[in-house]
Amino acid sequence: MNEKKLLYIETFGCQMNDRDSEIMRQLLAKAYEPTDVIQIADAIIVNTCSIRDKAEQKAYSLLGTLRKRKRENPELIIAATGCVAQQEGAKMLSRMPHVDLVVGPQNIYQLPELFVKAQQLRKGIVATDMAKSFHIPPFLPSLQQGQPHKRFVTIMQGCNNFCTYCIVPYTRGREVSRKHEDILAEVSHLVAGGVKEVTLLGQNVNSYGNDHPAHSRTSFASLLRRVTEVKGIERVRFTTSNPKDLSEELMQCFTDLEKLCPHFHLPVQSGSNAILQRMNRKYTIEHYLSKVEKLRSYSPEIALTTDIIVGFPGETDEDFQATMDLIEKVRYHSAFSFKYSNRPPAKSCQFPDPVSREKKERRLATLQDRLQQIALERNREYIGSRMDLMVEGESKAADGQWSGRSGTNHIVNFQSHDAFMPGQIVQVVIQEACLHSLRGNLLPYFLP
Ligand code: 5AD
Ligand code: SF4
Repeated sequence: MNEKKLLYIETFGCQMNDRDSEIMRQLLAKAYEPTDVIQIADAIIVNTCSIRDKAEQKAYSLLGTLRKRKRENPELIIAATGCVAQQEGAKMLSRMPHVDLVVGPQNIYQLPELFVKAQQLRKGIVATDMAKSFHIPPFLPSLQQGQPHKRFVTIMQGCNNFCTYCIVPYTRGREVSRKHEDILAEVSHLVAGGVKEVTLLGQNVNSYGNDHPAHSRTSFASLLRRVTEVKGIERVRFTTSNPKDLSEELMQCFTDLEKLCPHFHLPVQSGSNAILQRMNRKYTIEHYLSKVEKLRSYSPEIALTTDIIVGFPGETDEDFQATMDLIEKVRYHSAFSFKYSNRPPAKSCQFPDPVSREKKERRLATLQDRLQQIALERNREYIGSRMDLMVEGESKAADGQWSGRSGTNHIVNFQSHDAFMPGQIVQVVIQEACLHSLRGNLLPYFLP
């Protein structure tokens, strides 16, 4: 008889949180089996994000709805993890007294003991200490859980940049890089278990290793080389980078490493130098554009994506126009754009902000319209070209429709009544371009 209890995890925010949720699921696997149905769970983890106000509100609202569940079932364990938990600590318990555990991102490895303690003590526990000498422990991911063909591998945590709008350095602490031996062991373990693609994760991967002693330091570019050399790996991706740290050594990797996917997420945040300076981004737009040009000379096929913040405190019409001009110059394959959100204690909260909410919303809509048009135009450029796809699975849209992802990170759907395995590589010719996906015809040579 299976005596395991059921664990439900709701994950908000970035891929780092997705990876942390996987780790937590695995750490608790001895006692808990995962479930997708929150109503029947014996334990619920809300893995929160605080990057923007909206994400934080969503997490609080889910936690709020659990109050009634806890009243009905006092045995239910409710844990809040992630960035809001780190930031709020004990405050979260006074706002949400039905929560049993508040656990910061650096403390998730203690979860099994914390769960036992929560059951015994029956009072709220806070674990949000950030150790000065924090190390991400070696950790071999379970091959039973998660996607069979692609995985995230955390290579570092935290950020030292203190962009003035950003909460991350406060919630995830200073940069801590994992040992390259641990990362390579994790990748080898995944690949031996059938994984074909890994995405290396960090808030600012270009500064990987800077916190290690000089004699044992490995640069991000050399780590990347070594990961692509793991026998059996087919694709390697990474995210995210601050443009100020994008080195030629890394650009060179796109020429040299066949397994490195030609996609680069290079957040620009604004097209205005005045705003970039107030954001503490430490690059100018001229500097950014010259890096984009250089990157494209190393890899002409590279697809560029970005993040943009609209309505940073004091953003003028001219500043906003500079962002609109920038997107015409770079012509991003896709972009995430956000309305600026005050995130205390981030420094920008103290900056004067005379721009009205309505104006910011209008600017965001104008920007998003044009970004979408450009993305569609970019997608149309692929019509008639061949693409290698890694099969993701059957598409939900229609019978006989399959979905794959290109090296450039485009979703491509294709029709076939044959069966494919996730992770299998197929080749298509692109026939049609939509805003968020492409459609291609399968080339017969790759039929199974
Ligand atoms: N307001 C709006 N967007 C933000 N981001 C980070 N902090 C804020 C904020 N305070 C965006 C940035 C970052 C992405 C992950 O979230 O564009 O690159
Ligand atoms: Fe935040 Fe800037 Fe660090 Fe990115 S680089 S996590 S935006 S402080």
